Amino acid sequence: MNTPVKLALTAAALTATAALAQAAPKVDGVIGAGEYSSTFKEPEKGMSVSWRVVGDTIYFGVSARTDGWIGIGLDPSGEKKTGADMYMFVMEDGKLNAMDMVQVKKTGAPKLDTEEGGKDNIAAKAGKISGDTFTVEFSRKLNTGDKQDAVLTAGKGAKLLMAVGPGEKTNKAHAKSMRWEKEIVIK
Ligand code: HEM
Repeated sequence: MNTPVKLALTAAALTATAALAQAAPKVDGVIGAGEYSSTFKEPEKGMSVSWRVVGDTIYFGVSARTDGWIGIGLDPSGEKKTGADMYMFVMEDGKLNAMDMVQVKKTGAPKLDTEEGGKDNIAAKAGKISGDTFTVEFSRKLNTGDKQDAVLTAGKGAKLLMAVGPGEKTNKAHAKSMRWEKEIVIK
């Protein structure tokens, strides 16, 4: 094979690989192999959070063995949970209720962004219960422009909070053994 043809083929292969790496997750409530670039799996209770940045948007895939609510939070600004950009999800009669929230107090339940002068900035969303596992996928802009949302930056760190509730009621607290924190990299 002559060199220009070889180079053209290599360039095409690289472009195809890059396109594959940047494919946006399909927000359908099913987390496919290779759909996300990073995953944190809590080792004992079956909570898992995956994420991938595509352009100006971040996609999350979250699953847990539960018939209750699941929630994640980002970047608390003060003591304990204070100021965290929270997201809670619950299945109600087979339909996903996805809540964009904010942690006003240092512990206890978060409040809806819409009750705190912000907006619902969840873009795509889907949820599914399969056997004993509840899976949620959702997306939002890295920078939503909403003061109640964390500004995320590709390549930078963030603090991820996670919790699984005891049932469908979002005013019922998680157990102490059902909430976790982890430093992650946004990518
Ligand atoms: C997005 C949903 C939620 C997430 C990600 C979450 C996460 C967390 C985390 C990581 C902590 C430990 C904070 C620290 O000590 O630094 C915590 C504490 C606490 N949370 Fe939540 N939480 C959520 C929802 C709720 C709800 C709905 C309630 C009550 C209705 C609640 C009640 C509490 C309480 C009472 C504490 C202090 C006791 C403890 O440390 O477990 N949380 N939460």
